[in-house]
Amino acid sequence: MGLKGFMTSLVVGLMASTVIANPLPGTTTHKKRNCVKRCFNGPETRSCWTPGWDIHTNFEEHVPITDVVRTYHLSITNITSFDGADGIAKPAMLINGQFPGPTIEADWGDEVEVHVTNNLQHNGTSIHWHGIWQKFTNTMDGVNGCTECPIPPGATRTYRFLMRQYGTGWYHSHFSAQYGNGVVGMLKVNGPASANYDIDLGPYSVTDWYYETADRLERAAQFSDHGPPPDSDNVLFNGTHVNAEGGGRYARTALTPGKKHLLRLVNPSVDNTFTLSLVGHKFTVIAADFVPIEPVEKDSLFMTTGQRYDVIIEADQDVGNYWFNATLASSGMCGTSVVDYPAAIFSYEGAPEDELPTDPGTPVYAGCDDETGLVPVVKKSAPVDDFLAHKNYLDVAVEVQPYNDERSVYRWKINDSSIDIEWGKPILQYVREGNYSWPREANVIEVEEADVWTWWIIENGSGMPHPMHLHGHDTMLLGVGPGEFNAANHTSLLNFDNPTRRDVVQMPGRSWIAIAWKTDNPGVHLLHCHIAWHVSQGLSVQFLERGPEIADTVDIDEIAPNCDAWRAYEATAVYQKHDSGL
Ligand code: CU
Ligand code: CU
Ligand code: CU
Ligand code: CU
Repeated sequence: MGLKGFMTSLVVGLMASTVIANPLPGTTTHKKRNCVKRCFNGPETRSCWTPGWDIHTNFEEHVPITDVVRTYHLSITNITSFDGADGIAKPAMLINGQFPGPTIEADWGDEVEVHVTNNLQHNGTSIHWHGIWQKFTNTMDGVNGCTECPIPPGATRTYRFLMRQYGTGWYHSHFSAQYGNGVVGMLKVNGPASANYDIDLGPYSVTDWYYETADRLERAAQFSDHGPPPDSDNVLFNGTHVNAEGGGRYARTALTPGKKHLLRLVNPSVDNTFTLSLVGHKFTVIAADFVPIEPVEKDSLFMTTGQRYDVIIEADQDVGNYWFNATLASSGMCGTSVVDYPAAIFSYEGAPEDELPTDPGTPVYAGCDDETGLVPVVKKSAPVDDFLAHKNYLDVAVEVQPYNDERSVYRWKINDSSIDIEWGKPILQYVREGNYSWPREANVIEVEEADVWTWWIIENGSGMPHPMHLHGHDTMLLGVGPGEFNAANHTSLLNFDNPTRRDVVQMPGRSWIAIAWKTDNPGVHLLHCHIAWHVSQGLSVQFLERGPEIADTVDIDEIAPNCDAWRAYEATAVYQKHDSGL
């Protein structure tokens, strides 16, 4: 550590001991001082980062602040006829005219500053940085109605936050189902890794794709006479695929013979889940969401909506072209597509460029259940006695309610309430006013005690699986099981000793999951199903964590100017809110 680093840590250390009204992002973070190993990140030393910082660093407490700020400009526009994905023209909303939007890249400990301009004519937007905890920067979480107001047309909002975590994430609109129109991009945060690799291939998204707009699909999906959620019209790999009419193209990824490649898999779908496999190759998984794990080999990988896996692929087979398959579950219970065999191509350098792979591979079993055996590198354990004394329950159910004389709609409920947020008055605004009298349908759950474990058993009374995503934390996944949770019978099945941690957990149909996290992040944190249709129809709660401390630890007044602008616009908006708003 140089002199500058030492000075920074000293100053930051002093600041952390006093309460400051408007801390700069990261001021309560200090540099790790006890490690002096001289080791830099390289192909044979991926567990190192810079001297003193490595894969074993507990980044919940220590972040290598770089003082580097990475600046990005994102412009969201309406495209009436976009054919840049699979060759079929459709209406879309895109970031900087591309799908996916630009990858936001930073090093661990950098800050990013993203200027988001809403150039849509008649829609608000808000951009959420999926998986980023936003510790002490809760107003940057980008959730309209919870942590901010939507950005009105013509306006720009600047998001600025510290990359405390590293690995692979994504960002997307949280304005109703808008991300299904294409308002999606990838996050790549460079840092150490738990296994060595030669080449970083970057983020690789596999997503469902629809020719109808997300708003129309969402409205159709909520009607009970409509049947199950719509099939996807296509599946895109890194934003491209062939289409049913013979146009478009396969995504091609180059592999260098003999080298190890890091592939950062992301499922940014609104609904579809996939089981991914590369014919003739295995995946060595080294991270689940933003959590580095002990390397584990998998022939195939199930990914639900919102999840990421960093995997290493070794190009140790014959030079050639290989199919990369995305298989949907045959049960139809966790996403369906009209495409029979969605696939992309991985090509060794030297393989014929205009030929398709020949071996379709052995069909993989594609179910709806999460991968197991994901062991975090930085170990965390939790006390079972505390769980038994303080566990809480969330019950998920679906109801059919009358819409008008002829039709009925699905409403998803947690503890008997469907969430319905106010775009113009986010919960952080209530907190700012010291007003704790929000409407019941805000589905706010207060968790006041600082730095304790909070325990939640979610019981899914419906037959459908739900990818449950928590903002602001990684959840510790204590266990999953069928039916309802019974402490006497099921506590012994839970794992309290360094269980999987991640930010999206697949909850199977008619099952329970038990999750936990530590209350170390004052703010409003949404917990919701990541199927866009389900959260639109109410499947969410928001945790108000350490509410009374928020004003002292987060620059809460920062939300005011954009909220003023939104409220002025909302009064005259062409389209009114028609769902939960999330
Ligand atoms: Cu999120
Ligand atoms: Cu998300
Ligand atoms: Cu769901
Ligand atoms: Cu969310």
